[in-house]
Amino acid sequence: MNAIEIKGLTKNFGPKQALSGLNMTVPEGAIYGFIGENGSGKSTTEKIICGLIHPSGGEVKLFGRDYTDADVRAKVGVLIEAPGCFPNYSVWNNLMLQAANLSIPNAKEEVVKVLKMVRMEGAASNKYKNCSLGMKQRIGIAMALLGKPTLLVLDEPINGLDADGMRIMREILVDVTKNYGCTVVVSSHILGELEKIATHYGIVRGGKMLKEMTAEELNASCRTYVALQTKDMNRTKSLLSCKYSRVEEDEAGYIRVYDAKDPEEIVTHLYENGILVSEIKIDKIGLEEYYIDLMKEGR
Ligand SMILES: Nc1ncnc2c1ncn2[C@@H]1O[C@H](COP(=O)(O)OP(=O)(O)O)[C@@H](O)[C@H]1O
Ligand SMILES: [Mg+2]
Repeated sequence: MNAIEIKGLTKNFGPKQALSGLNMTVPEGAIYGFIGENGSGKSTTEKIICGLIHPSGGEVKLFGRDYTDADVRAKVGVLIEAPGCFPNYSVWNNLMLQAANLSIPNAKEEVVKVLKMVRMEGAASNKYKNCSLGMKQRIGIAMALLGKPTLLVLDEPINGLDADGMRIMREILVDVTKNYGCTVVVSSHILGELEKIATHYGIVRGGKMLKEMTAEELNASCRTYVALQTKDMNRTKSLLSCKYSRVEEDEAGYIRVYDAKDPEEIVTHLYENGILVSEIKIDKIGLEEYYIDLMKEGR
């Protein structure tokens, strides 16, 4: 079953059309990377999924049922913007308060459990206001987990985190899907980070879904290339451009020959023309470059 199925979703804010017929399919158990430039409609879509705002039109189904269905609503956990916490209360008290709001019977036990899930066992007595951004994001996830969601929607949770914070967040999201049976939708513009964990992707632009694909599909469409360096880069470039259809110099100072799977052929060709290759490697473009390419194509 699909956790989310959206068809023709529209949302107008006065004259502004934020979503213009967006489709989205998120299979159960996925970590769905929701990608798009600022203003493309990610947060608006997520807010509709979470019932925070109403759509102007279209169909939103969660676990096969209409998104307004009360049983389904109870299954959705959300972290959009900052969690609603009391700054002067400890992490523990904030979570206990949330547990009380949700009328969770064995509150202490559950709070201990979610604190462990978000790697915050050691920081329960910290005041919320003294927590780092990364910790606050994790507290937000803990708050959402208290409701035992089967769908967790996170809006840019990696935004502004340092490398360590991102790593912990990645671990938590994988843990939540694998061991907690949650489907996760995570929006981000830090594509490289998402690439390490996402099983599915949705790329939005201008309030529409540009492309949806699985990690395997992305992998297959990320073209391979041979990257090389020589002492005479300009001549190398012109020599290779005559033979291969796409030859470019990258930011790291390598000449890239796309769709050329045989480095030996390139080396021989250059050697015959009096050029020695000082370094050569085969690589694949990552999600970030794929995305930039896709954006360029669509314009
Ligand atoms: N409450 C609002 N009122 C008016 N316009 C809005 C509102 N919320 C979002 N928008 C507009 O809708 C578009 C999509 O916004 P948003 O969903 O926040 O994009 P993203 O999260 O991808 O950056 C933007 O052009 C934004 O300015
Ligand atoms: Mg946003």
